[in-house]
Formats: sequence, C-alpha cells, structure tokens
Amino acid sequence: MAEQKVVKTFRIMRYNPDTDTQPSFKDYQLECSPMERVLTALNRIKWEQDGSVSYRRSCGHAVCGSCGMTIQGASRLACKTLVKDIDGDVIIVEPLKGFPVVKDLVVDMEHFFHKYRAIIPFFHSESPKPVKERLQSPEEQVHIDDPAKCILCGCCTSSCPSYWKNDDYLGPAALLKAWRFVADSRDESAAERLSAVNGENGLWRCHLIFNCMEACPKEIDIPAALSKLKRAVIWGGPR
Ligand code: SF4
Ligand code: SF4
Ligand code: FES
Repeated sequence: MAEQKVVKTFRIMRYNPDTDTQPSFKDYQLECSPMERVLTALNRIKWEQDGSVSYRRSCGHAVCGSCGMTIQGASRLACKTLVKDIDGDVIIVEPLKGFPVVKDLVVDMEHFFHKYRAIIPFFHSESPKPVKERLQSPEEQVHIDDPAKCILCGCCTSSCPSYWKNDDYLGPAALLKAWRFVADSRDESAAERLSAVNGENGLWRCHLIFNCMEACPKEIDIPAALSKLKRAVIWGGPR
C-alpha cells in the first residue's frame, strides 16, 4: 500500500542581520511523509523552494551535533526528529534558544565552546606512557559510558532555565564533559577541573530542573552526572 503523505506548513524563523531589523517567520508548505525527518524537509525547502534558508547540518544521523534547533518549542536535532513526532499541521522551526543568531537557524556557538574549553575538555596524565594504550577495567569504564556519548549539539544548554537567566553559567554540556574526565580512572587533572566548575557561574547554578535531560538526543542522564560532579567537588574527587 502506498504511504500516505501529509501536507505540513513549516513556519521557519528568518533573520538576516545585514537586512532585517528583527526576526520574522516565513511559511513554507510541503507534502511529506510522516516518517520524513525535519532535516530532510528543511533540505527540500532549501533546494526546491527557497535557497536562502540557512541552517547547519552535516552527518544527517545524530552524530555530528550540527543540526540542533528549536522545533515546536523544544531543543532537538532536526535529523532525529520525524514529521510524525510533531503534533499539528504547523511545524515551527527556530534557532536554539539563548544563543546569538548569525542567520535564520544558524547560531553563534563561540560562547558555548568558550565555556567548554574552560573545563579542560581533554584527557591529561603525567604518568609514564604504557607500551600500548592506557587500560581501564569494565567497572571503571562504566562511569564514563553515558557522558562520553555527548555530541556537543548544545540542545541541553539551550533548554536550561539557569542558562537563560545567566548565559555566563557554564551550562550542562560543559559540566557534563567535566564529569566525563573527572570520572575517568586514567585522567589526572580532576583537581583543576573541579576548581574550574566550582566558580560563581559554575556547577551550583544547576538547580536540577531536568530540562537538559529531556532535550538530550543521546538520552544522557545529565542531572545524575551533575549530581555526581557536585559530590566530587565536596569530597575533593570522585568516589
Ligand atoms: S538540571 Fe541543571 S543543567 Fe539541567 S536544565 Fe536543569 S538547571 Fe540546567
Ligand atoms: S549532553 Fe546531550 S544535549 Fe547536551 S550537548 Fe551533549 S548530546 Fe547535546
Ligand atoms: S546533521 Fe549531524 S547531528 Fe544532525
């Protein structure tokens, strides 16, 4: 049996800082399959109706983290959101909340990555290099399995009320990455990272509202990781 198509209106926020004084919405009608991804619909709008619509994407498979945007009010990956997942005939597409807009759905991620860099987001050890790789037991590795899934899409930080109130807050993505290395049995920079997250705009701005977890396309339990990070700050290291 032929698949039933649906006609949807994609209401896309448009903003060109060179010509517009403020953002506005523009509607595009599209016949699409319920199983079509919002990213595919955006591609078709760009290629078939209006080449000036701007957004980021690369992998198309929830790996690169490029296509984070606000779809029907929630931060999501366009490549992981199906048309059938959105109720109603109108699908509203906006840039990630709380990030400066460069053009249309493209946001400036520099402030996000500035905070990411502040937590020292790379492995560090002064111990002599082993002949092969630095080993971990399965019991040690289980602590980093979940946080290591992060693709830095920004959906969590963009949906965090503490971040909306204060964009100097490190935010869940950077804090999660801090925990990923603090919890790594091979890493030796936990003290520096715990100090970096313990500042005025750090970890204690998280009030466990859980928006970040709902937004995360990788279903990472961010509040649990941040709670463990809080305990590590108090105890002076992970336990
Ligand atoms: S749990 Fe913390 S980091 Fe996550 S949305 Fe709430 S305040 Fe933000
Ligand atoms: S924790 Fe999840 S929502 Fe946040 S940046 Fe990583 S993958 Fe995206
Ligand atoms: S295009 Fe790579 S995550 Fe969506």
